[in-house]
Amino acid sequence: MQISEKITALINEQINAELASAYLYQGIAEYYAFAGYVGFAKWFKAQAKEEVEHAEKFIDYLEEQGKKVLLSDIKAPSNEEYRDLREPLEIQLTHEEHVTALIYGIVAQAKEERDYGTERFLDWYVKEQVEEEANARALLGEYDLAKEHGEVLHLDSKLGKRE
Ligand code: FEO
Repeated sequence: MQISEKITALINEQINAELASAYLYQGIAEYYAFAGYVGFAKWFKAQAKEEVEHAEKFIDYLEEQGKKVLLSDIKAPSNEEYRDLREPLEIQLTHEEHVTALIYGIVAQAKEERDYGTERFLDWYVKEQVEEEANARALLGEYDLAKEHGEVLHLDSKLGKRE
């Protein structure tokens, strides 16, 4: 059973959302890099790469299904200065919660259509989003602790060790 046009459209929108996430995180990485926080920058560059991989998995799925991938405009992230070092971390958490809601929306549609194949395919994203939100929440918590104890540079060097 080939996937429906509705699911195809939702996945095409999700490809855009994943690439927009990559763009957002690359922008955040550049904010930290310019401010001299190379560890935070490295961490967000790795996040940006992961988002491109998320988009690619969706692209591969549409290709496998014989459906057309439609790439659309990606909104530029805010190039304004962030309020402080914490703000991008808050934005990341809010953004990941938003992405989770989008993924759940596709799962709900797949369930409604009894499209079990897409539902199974989306399992990976459901798990990934739990992880993404947990990581974003943990980083925010770590930042707050580091800030309180004057150890932000220590956290920066720890983040810089991310593979
Ligand atoms: Fe692709 Fe960070 O969710």
